[in-house]
Amino acid sequence: MMTKRNNQSSTQMMKSQNVELEAENKKQSWKPFLHLIRSVKLPWLLILLCIIINFTQGYLTLLFPEYTEDIYAGNFTPALAVTAVLVVLGQSILTALLQFVAGYTSNLNHMRFQSYIWKKLSRLPVSYFEDHEPRDLISRTTQDTMSLSEFFAYSISYFFSSIYTFLGSLVLIFNYDWRLALSQAIIIPVCYLVGVIAGRVYFKLNNRIQGKLSDMTRYFSAVLPYLTLVKLFGQENREETNGNYWIEKYAEVNFQSSLAGSAISVANTLSQVLRELLLILMGVWLIQEGSLEVSAWIAFYMYANTLYNGMQMIMAQWQTLKRNQGACARISAVTSVPEEANPGTLDATAENKDLVFHNVSFAYQQNNVLNEVSFTAKKGQVTAIVGPSGAGKSTILSLVERFYEPKEGEILLGDHKASEYELKSWRQDIAYIPQDTHLFSGTIRDNIAYGMQGKVSEAKILEAAKKADAYDFIMGFEKGFDTPVGENGARLSGGQRQRIAIARALLRDARVLLLDEATSNLDAESEYQVEQTLKELSEGRTILLVAHHMDTVKQADHIIVMENSRVNGEGTHEELMNNNELYRRLVRLQAGGKLAGEKEERT
Ligand SMILES: Nc1ncnc2c1ncn2[C@@H]1O[C@H](COP(=O)(O)OP(=O)(O)OP(=O)(O)O)[C@@H](O)[C@H]1O
Ligand SMILES: [Mg+2]
Repeated sequence: MMTKRNNQSSTQMMKSQNVELEAENKKQSWKPFLHLIRSVKLPWLLILLCIIINFTQGYLTLLFPEYTEDIYAGNFTPALAVTAVLVVLGQSILTALLQFVAGYTSNLNHMRFQSYIWKKLSRLPVSYFEDHEPRDLISRTTQDTMSLSEFFAYSISYFFSSIYTFLGSLVLIFNYDWRLALSQAIIIPVCYLVGVIAGRVYFKLNNRIQGKLSDMTRYFSAVLPYLTLVKLFGQENREETNGNYWIEKYAEVNFQSSLAGSAISVANTLSQVLRELLLILMGVWLIQEGSLEVSAWIAFYMYANTLYNGMQMIMAQWQTLKRNQGACARISAVTSVPEEANPGTLDATAENKDLVFHNVSFAYQQNNVLNEVSFTAKKGQVTAIVGPSGAGKSTILSLVERFYEPKEGEILLGDHKASEYELKSWRQDIAYIPQDTHLFSGTIRDNIAYGMQGKVSEAKILEAAKKADAYDFIMGFEKGFDTPVGENGARLSGGQRQRIAIARALLRDARVLLLDEATSNLDAESEYQVEQTLKELSEGRTILLVAHHMDTVKQADHIIVMENSRVNGEGTHEELMNNNELYRRLVRLQAGGKLAGEKEERT
């Protein structure tokens, strides 16, 4: 299902995600930021330590001009020199310490942010991923969390210590000479204005950069796995153009960002020049007038620098904060999505009853995909669902898995509604082999044992593999069960992948087995073997299977015929052959197809 969607153009999906992000950008709200801080368990003690170290460093910075003033005034004593050296040494040690503690804190933050998002992502409803590409979410869990983590280690401590040095030096310069101090204080609103404007610009640009970057990575990761398809249709040139489009879009915003950075840097330099000019002119005037010592002017000059640097630092951290505000909006757009509903309390694994669909209607978006569907899949029986493509067969299985909620009607297990059962126990009770077989990129053994709690005995894995008719081909590989399957089972044939998926489902030993075209790629012999296994397994279990092969369907105890979102008929093979036109047609068509196939083979 996902694969089909991936192969379609991802442009539309990208557009809808961009619209969402742009809406987030416009708001520039602090809510997501605060929500994230409250939700993620950050190492606050370590963050506090970073702030304290930075504060101490700020304190030493403020001390330094006091000693240098004495030195410049000629009051040079060895004690003074030693103290000055100690202050400088203290500053260097603190810088090194801060690097270590802040680095450690930042990594810890990164881990916590990522774990938090990962936990949230894995609990999102399936429907979320139909409108949002998982690939886009990867950038939120890596890049966005990285910048946030650094903020909560470095920037936050610089922010507080800058406020301290800024206020400290402001008080000190007013103590020195109020006229000089005034000439410096005038520049503060200018710096503030530049800083605030820069903050807003950075917020917007950074959001756009991140947006374009994820568009670009999304495009590449959508196309790269399907390069065979690109080659098959000779679309290399077209994809080259498409790729260049996203590369250029990303470069465009980066150019804009560099331009904005240069403009902000020019504004900063101009305000600095203005400030220094005022300081020199005022200094010259006051010294000539005789109301200021040269040494005091030098110390003042240093304090004024600290003041200015403090202000710059505050504004720089403010800009970082604004950038991270955007990251938080992007992250919380995912983390604030409600998790899968799980109101039930009953334990489904304790039940061994019939699975009932009672007047179930369902729509993915507008149009109903299921209309008043009713049937019973009895325990101890194999129930098959047949029908033309798009009739709603896979949707029925998705509803049984509770990936979606019915719009109307009920799904029941015994006397209780599905929603009354606790979700985890419900899914534990079901083994589902979807239409698109997905394997993880581990070994065959890892894939078969996936979904089992704790260590699984070798004997059980072998048994499941044998029942799924997978044992012989697995042992044919040099490494047997330790053979790596490649990305999504790329090193295996379609039929081999299916048999591993069947073994994986059988190992779960669940009471309800859902199979969606699970044997479609198997040869006749393997299919027969798996059918025998299912027949044996049906004892005490509920088996619901979707199949196109009529030979498989015929074996079922009960058959449901779906057409255009509705149940068209139900019964055994014989009953349906007698009274269901669609079923007869399906059987006839396949028999005809087979005969045609056989003829071709002979010629
Ligand atoms: N995730 C989805 N979002 C929107 N529409 C969907 C989604 N999945 C399926 N559909 C639509 O619902 C209808 C039923 O799809 P479903 O997959 O249940 O058909 P099916 O009977 O299993 O078909 P097939 O035999 O081809 O597997 C189709 O029209 C399909 O386009
Ligand atoms: Mg299907």
